Amino acid sequence: MKFLSIKEAMKKGKGKVSIRGWIHRERGSSKFKFIVLRDFTNIIQCVIKADKFTTKKFKEADKLQVEASMEVTGTIKKDKRAPTGFEIEVKEFKIIGESESFPIQKNQSKEFLADNRHLWIRSRKMQAILKIRSTVFQAFREYFNKEGFLEHHSPMFQSTQCEGGSTLFKVDYFGKPLYLTQTWQLHAEATMFSLGKIYTIAPSFRAEKSKTSRHLTEYWHAEMEVPFSDFKMLQDYAEGMTKHIIKTVLKTNKEELKILERNIKKLEPTIKKKFPRITYTKALELLAKKKKMKVKWGKDLRTIEEDKLMELYDTPVIVTHYPKKVKAFYMKEDKKDKNVVLGFDMLGPEGYGELVGASQREEDIKKIISNLKLQKEDPKDYKFYLDTRRYGSIPHGGFGLGVERLVSWICGLENIKESIAFPRTMLRFSP
Ligand code: 4AD
Repeated sequence: MKFLSIKEAMKKGKGKVSIRGWIHRERGSSKFKFIVLRDFTNIIQCVIKADKFTTKKFKEADKLQVEASMEVTGTIKKDKRAPTGFEIEVKEFKIIGESESFPIQKNQSKEFLADNRHLWIRSRKMQAILKIRSTVFQAFREYFNKEGFLEHHSPMFQSTQCEGGSTLFKVDYFGKPLYLTQTWQLHAEATMFSLGKIYTIAPSFRAEKSKTSRHLTEYWHAEMEVPFSDFKMLQDYAEGMTKHIIKTVLKTNKEELKILERNIKKLEPTIKKKFPRITYTKALELLAKKKKMKVKWGKDLRTIEEDKLMELYDTPVIVTHYPKKVKAFYMKEDKKDKNVVLGFDMLGPEGYGELVGASQREEDIKKIISNLKLQKEDPKDYKFYLDTRRYGSIPHGGFGLGVERLVSWICGLENIKESIAFPRTMLRFSP
């Protein structure tokens, strides 16, 4: 017997089909058993008529509960009343695995769904999100492969910080302290001398104590590093990559976006319009003038300020030239103004915050050492990194995209925890 997916069966549209999947919904009477079957592609209504089976066989069907798995063979036809427009009249069925009473029912609390995440990921909502997430990963790779980049990986165990000590996870490494990586960046900068243009998608770890809707302690970080870059080139890559990902999702995941009731009009400007590029100083002016929000020059933008600024736009915005003192030690000082760095954040619309963090890297070893000392770091711990500036240093730069932030925005999610199958936050670390 050749099994079709539900999507394939619906495409066939008539005649005999065999499918297999899990019971999504069921209701019955003495004459009929209606089953909505789910597989990896869709759901479909199946009707089992009592008069077509022996009493014993019909009883078998009648006692089936939600999430039991089964094979079904029958005749498919269009039916406007059915949830996805087709119905299968069942001629034969086989139970693969019975199900106990499924704990997840309608209107359960977020906490309950989080505790039962391993089961909740079977829901149509989670299925749709995870499919879009898969497209995002593929589109990211596709974009950078086409641009001639090579995929490369840095170690997850690191001996130093890169993005500030306050979010480091310490690990007992055979009695010595090590840290879980916050970014691939420092090792990527070293590898760039060997491979040229490179990218990665890997987990990053941040000991974020804040319970926000945008922070995970373990998130997937899509990063790139480019030799001989200039600052504009990095912004072009960030914009090009984002446009490509959104375009690909809009093309590939129409069904999923519909299931999520996502208003795709909110995503379309991103592929049509050029992203505004403004300086941090200009951002403060806009906040003061249009949002009556005063931010002292030199302070990093907080969530509330980013959100207010983004109310002015319907595409991501690239904010450049942040104050040096709020940014990481490796960012290149602007020759024209020593108080700012050639770094940018790409902010997402609709309050999704910083999607990308980027910079040209400081080439001057003396400046890096001085920046490290200001952060009370011992430059000796960074020997391998400083060697990149000792042996043939070149202009270069790169960025990191927070995959879950992007998925959250694309899907229009309330909380970043929904954008990954098994989220990790300060309070949530199982299942
Ligand atoms: O701005 P960040 O800290 O930049 C870096 O790590 C650079 N080393 C990247 C690079 O240049 N290769 O982080 C980059 C992105 C942020 O813009 C955000 O989208 C995401 O990572 N991010 C988080 N996502 C979820 N949970 C968290 N706790 C995150 N922290 C950062």
